[in-house]
Amino acid sequence: MPEWLNALPKAELHLHLEGSLEPELLFALAERNQIALPWADVETLRAAYAFNNLQEFLDLYYAGANVLRTEQDFYDLTWAYLQRCKVQNVIHVEPFFDPQTHTDRGIPFEVVLRGIQQALVDGEKQLGISHGLILSFLRHLPEEEAFKTLEQAMPFREAFIGVGLDSSEKGFPPRLFERVFAKARSEGLHAVAHAGEEGPPEYIWEALDLLKIKRIDHGVRAIEDERLMQRIIDEQIPLTVCPLSNIKLCVFEHMGQHNILEMLERGVKVTVNSDDPAYFGGYVGENFAALHEHLGMTEAQAKRLAQNSLDARLA
Ligand code: ADE
Ligand code: ZN
Repeated sequence: MPEWLNALPKAELHLHLEGSLEPELLFALAERNQIALPWADVETLRAAYAFNNLQEFLDLYYAGANVLRTEQDFYDLTWAYLQRCKVQNVIHVEPFFDPQTHTDRGIPFEVVLRGIQQALVDGEKQLGISHGLILSFLRHLPEEEAFKTLEQAMPFREAFIGVGLDSSEKGFPPRLFERVFAKARSEGLHAVAHAGEEGPPEYIWEALDLLKIKRIDHGVRAIEDERLMQRIIDEQIPLTVCPLSNIKLCVFEHMGQHNILEMLERGVKVTVNSDDPAYFGGYVGENFAALHEHLGMTEAQAKRLAQNSLDARLA
């Protein structure tokens, strides 16, 4: 990666902590917790990182998360991510975690949260990286389950800045979660949601109008709807775009076809993020580097993208 890109101060606003689980750590945690894995070794696992769509990735992502059992595991996962951030001059992070992925396996909510939170606090003290944690609901599960998760989170209200919505998008529109988002907002939590990754522009409208989100996660399909484009430009609603993720999950065929710079030039507040870096081939720095290499992103454009990420912080 060019040094001028690495040196830019950046914020990362779209990162699933479970998606930062590198195969080496996954195998180490499996050994520590005495869990048998379906892959022979790290190379075999890495070779399985070939996806035709979001669901194929999610199946592997949830299988990988099974090695996360103890508070120390969640600490180690988060700490490893923060160390990558430090090297790439990511000075602020607003990561997601999926409580239901863990509580549904019998891991107590507070075990997950304490490990993550302690690493974030240490990251602030020792690495100078500030943070705001986002609790994400799994949209392939019913809204009642999201309500239960929010209830479990409330004793730890001060640990979060907001709620998000992730997992399988198609067939699970934002309107299914209107009531639980209203409840979360009434607790003073910010709202964000994945929308317009694989799903249509209508899902972005719903996320804005019904969930009252402050930021759109992905949102690249907004470009199919001119009225929506005008709204997100007029209201300067940030998009947390994840270029390498979009290629790995076949949202675009090649990086040369990605629309992030076209959006930037049209005045959309787009930002660059890594989504699930262990699975998609890189962290924020590698995402910036790919835009430089394949789309001819200039230094001026990179600076605007980095500044957008700092401006779009919720914490
Ligand atoms: N969970 C982890 N990564 C995701 C993505 N890119 N889209 C939806 N849910 C996710
Ligand atoms: Zn995501």
